Amino acid sequence: MDILLNMSIPKKQLKESITRMWDSSSESYDSLEGHGIQSETEKEVWKNLFREYAPPGKLEVLDVGCGTCEIGLLFAEMGHHVTGIDLSEKMLAKARAKAKNRGFEADFRKGDAEEPPFEEGTFDLVVNRHLLWTLPHPENAVRNWRRVLKEGGKLLVIDGIWRDESPEGRLRRLASDLATLLVERRNPWQGFYSREVNSNLPNPYGAAPEKTLEYFRGAGFENPGSRDLKEIIELQKKEMPFRKRIAFDYAYHLTYGEK
Ligand SMILES: C[S@@+](CC[C@H](N)C(=O)[O-])C[C@H]1O[C@@H](n2cnc3c(N)ncnc32)[C@H](O)[C@@H]1O
Repeated sequence: MDILLNMSIPKKQLKESITRMWDSSSESYDSLEGHGIQSETEKEVWKNLFREYAPPGKLEVLDVGCGTCEIGLLFAEMGHHVTGIDLSEKMLAKARAKAKNRGFEADFRKGDAEEPPFEEGTFDLVVNRHLLWTLPHPENAVRNWRRVLKEGGKLLVIDGIWRDESPEGRLRRLASDLATLLVERRNPWQGFYSREVNSNLPNPYGAAPEKTLEYFRGAGFENPGSRDLKEIIELQKKEMPFRKRIAFDYAYHLTYGEK
């Protein structure tokens, strides 16, 4: 069993497994806690955060691993042009429908975030949320995100440590999962990668801020830094039932840098 768990999966097969998982969670993705933005207040906090770190002017923005494009479309709302790429066609279909409903012209295409299919110096800003942890080669990805940025362009990465492995953290997770099972009649353990896929990811339970900064420095970003996003977690918790709130507490952060 252990041999299987530590087995390196061929690249194509690994990306196919990852894509299948997101295809299957695309339908409910925006309704799950921490994914779809549930309040106007939270939306404003995200936008103010991005205003603080984005370069000035009307921007060409790339949302890599955009999913349903919850984050990219905030940039569209702020008047920027957004391109989203993702491996999952089903996520992209959700993103297209959402952009259309909200009246935004955005471009979506299937593509690998680790090797974005764009010329050097195409974008003013590259952003991603909840993507870094699921990449088999995050250091290459960050290097390639720098490549597609214009000089002076910014990279913003939002990630977290998704699992609190302390005894209290485990207990809270178990209580929350059991309550979800009983109240929602839904399998709370569905929608995660297999152990085999996880063993091929360097940060399967989230990339720590120090690790993320290491990737930024290795890629040659200027003035890299990070800040915690506890404020956003607290806002999200206000919208959740108790059974979710008890386990929804993780280190959440934004890492930024300039080309
Ligand atoms: C947790 S979701 C995050 C979606 C979105 N960024 C958000 O903030 O809601 C991860 C997304 O990354 C996509 N993804 C995973 N690996 C990818 C890769 N190598 N290239 C492009 N997309 C990828 C998945 O299909 C999924 O839509």
